[in-house]
Amino acid sequence: MKEPEILVSHYGGQYAEIIVRLLRESGYRAALIPWQKVAGWVNLRRPKCIILSGGFASVYEEDAPTLERALVDLHVPILGICFGMQVVVHEAGGTVAAAKDEAEFGPEITIALGDSPLFADVPRNITALSSHGDHVTTLPPGFKAIATSWGGTQIEAVENRARRIFGVQFHPETDHTPYGAQILTNFVRNIAHCEMDWRPTNLLGEIQDAMREAVGEGEIIACGFSGGLDSSTITAALTPIFGDRFKSVCINAGQLRHNELPEIQRNAEAVNANLHIVSVEDYFFDEIFGRVKKTAPPYDPKHKRGVFTHGYVTEFEKFIARVGARHFVQGTLAPDRIESGIIKDHHNVGWEIKGCRRHDPLQHLFKYEVRELARSMNLPEGIVNRQPFPGPGLFVRVLEWPTRENIALVRWLDHVTTNVVKDAGDYEKISQLVVGLVPLKMTGVRGDKGAYLRAAIVRPMVTRDFMTATGFYFAGKVWRQIETALVRHPQIGSVCYNGTSKPPATIELE
Ligand code: XMP
Repeated sequence: MKEPEILVSHYGGQYAEIIVRLLRESGYRAALIPWQKVAGWVNLRRPKCIILSGGFASVYEEDAPTLERALVDLHVPILGICFGMQVVVHEAGGTVAAAKDEAEFGPEITIALGDSPLFADVPRNITALSSHGDHVTTLPPGFKAIATSWGGTQIEAVENRARRIFGVQFHPETDHTPYGAQILTNFVRNIAHCEMDWRPTNLLGEIQDAMREAVGEGEIIACGFSGGLDSSTITAALTPIFGDRFKSVCINAGQLRHNELPEIQRNAEAVNANLHIVSVEDYFFDEIFGRVKKTAPPYDPKHKRGVFTHGYVTEFEKFIARVGARHFVQGTLAPDRIESGIIKDHHNVGWEIKGCRRHDPLQHLFKYEVRELARSMNLPEGIVNRQPFPGPGLFVRVLEWPTRENIALVRWLDHVTTNVVKDAGDYEKISQLVVGLVPLKMTGVRGDKGAYLRAAIVRPMVTRDFMTATGFYFAGKVWRQIETALVRHPQIGSVCYNGTSKPPATIELE
């Protein structure tokens, strides 16, 4: 297969992979290369255009990432996004200043667009996600402003049309910027004249070929199986190749929802998984969480996630030893990798198992793309559309240290809320329904007496890629049904709604 025509220089921002995904969706392949390595890459290949991603740095910081000379010398079109635009402006002799007042910025702002090929077929006023405090204050020679915000006082996009260099302060790649895909396509198609060279149907073959090449004859592969979309899709893709050598394991550590184990078994059957269930609920409550609690400092969500991950990896390791696997597979997606360690630690990221090679066949994909892949393999709709559920499951839905009691309570809250939402016909409209137990007590009434009662939280979120999300708003009648159903529990006195978008919140509560 020929090299991608588009190079995305990765400056560290969490949305860089979304640029690549959005291009894939429009039919274009792109190589995502860390900015320190792009010079080496372009020495060997000649991209038709370059996109510079966002990043966390400020151009004036010591050791800030720079614009590699080798990229400019190619004389191909360049589009800088957020930090990518600032680095272009800075290197070309303009000035970038720190935000005077952080409160002014993001997440969504209104932008007035001027006349530029970058904005072909885009309305003159758009909303966009703009999250970087620094902004361009003086334009370099040959550049002009092509978009502004705050009544024309802030520069949101620049171009040097003669040199085919463009920059946008906002993020066209996120779903918070409705015309963003059009802007990116304008750049790669109309300005850089790239050819469409990506089809989602290539994906299955690519995954299978890579694993065929990596796994030796007779070698065993262990796969973490949660019954969700990602692990089911991987299993459906790889079981036809490896047959019984592909062994899936579901670790039931007490994190599962009401009646979830039978559902996992049904999904395993649907994808012909050779499923092993490891039941370690008591061990997790008594030892993993029980023992740590005595020595741990006061409750800390990061610590709790770390404790779960350690327990999970230990059990997975035992399974690998038991079946003699030389390879293991996790259903890690692009957002897990991108956000883990920066925003929150994901249980499936950042560890290896000695003597066993790790594979993450979906690591460059977003949920939305995995759904397409699953659909192309004719997996049941129940799997294709299954809402994600985090590996640590209900353990991250109690915002306190997990015990048998609080996990049982949140399992009940989740079950009851899900039923009401399904009956109301809203479940399919929500990408992920998060129901949690918050460490809050409020004075309520039970019978004729006052009582100090616990609070449940319901967080219905809508998203495509799980990197950004917005709240779903129930009709008043449905919300009242949820409240009424949940306060039937003797310990629950209040029900809180949380629809805060991501960013600034995250989808899970911790
Ligand atoms: P956040 O809460 O970071 O979540 O906005 C984004 C998506 O990732 C899921 N999530 C996890 N999935 N292991 C997983 O497999 C984890 O540790 C984990 N933490 C969050 C979350 O449910 C949402 O779909």
